[in-house]
Amino acid sequence: MSSSDRSTILVTGGAGFVGSHFTRLARELGRSVVVLDDLSGGSRAAPSSASFVQGDIGDRALVRDLCRGHGVGAVAHFAGKIQVGESVSRPDIYFDANVVKTLALLEVIRDEGISSFLFSSSAAVYGIPATVPIPEAARREPINAYGSTKLAIELVLDAWARAYNLRWAALRYFNAAGAHADGTLRENHEPETHLIPLVVDAGLGRRSHVAIFGDDYDTPDGTCIRDFIHVQDLATAHIRALSMLEQGVTLGPLNLGTGSGYSVREVIDVAGRIIGKPVPHIVSSRREGDPPSLVADPSHAVSVLGWRPERSSLETIVEDTLRSRRQ
Ligand code: UFG
Repeated sequence: MSSSDRSTILVTGGAGFVGSHFTRLARELGRSVVVLDDLSGGSRAAPSSASFVQGDIGDRALVRDLCRGHGVGAVAHFAGKIQVGESVSRPDIYFDANVVKTLALLEVIRDEGISSFLFSSSAAVYGIPATVPIPEAARREPINAYGSTKLAIELVLDAWARAYNLRWAALRYFNAAGAHADGTLRENHEPETHLIPLVVDAGLGRRSHVAIFGDDYDTPDGTCIRDFIHVQDLATAHIRALSMLEQGVTLGPLNLGTGSGYSVREVIDVAGRIIGKPVPHIVSSRREGDPPSLVADPSHAVSVLGWRPERSSLETIVEDTLRSRRQ
């Protein structure tokens, strides 16, 4: 296959939450996509018309054959382990899945001459920020192994860009949330640990209650503050970033958030209003490793990508989550 035929995007983790929304949008825009996913994250299927391969991103021969067979010219790397708490107790699993296997993937990509790489990074690289909102230049000091693995790959990408002409973007998600507006794609983690789906499930009576992990933080209502970004807004930002990489621009790290934070209590209140009855909740102790407040300064991403969040009001995020969990 000649290099001019290499227009397919390899999407690792394309059956997962953010990866499936990206895949859907890329297909809608007419891009050819091959998804590589081991289906370990509780997801069931890749969306729509993308080619699907079940397998391991660390399997060099598989990835090489897939890149050659499908004419891959760019990679969007979503696959990885994502549970912050688990990463603290099992750093071995997290460094293997997120760092060792990503290095194997990067070696194949380099050897195959693929030069555009989009990476799912995280606000977890910042740890407990000195100030919020957080710009990309803030000190990166992860406080859990999950964040360390994301930072490690960002450092690798920077070095690979210098050595091998790799063009990369590391999209640092704040709190990815919501679901596709048509209700057909949703957050489907096993087990679910994220606040919004848990709150919605408690509001629907599918759980007895949701626990607030600490109400004694130094925040206005004592509960943690997060910057929730709708998964379709994330998908749009990835498409913009990818097209810039493909045009020859290296982007480096970009914060994907809204710049506005909501507390855990505000989320519970908004969900109760939308569902039409209060969401049952209790207050329990703090969860280890939770920063009090994480809010993005997204101005760099907004100006570089020409992007802005459109579905990321808390109401829309809760409504879309609710619709997807009712279906
Ligand atoms: N929370 C509760 N009760 C719950 C679940 C969560 O009170 O049952 C609280 C948490 O303590 C936290 C907030 O709700 O204050 C959000 O928690 P999530 O687990 O939904 O999300 P996190 O902020 O912990 O983590 C998310 C991603 C990580 C990423 C991080 C960085 O899951 O991958 O954002 O912004 F690293």
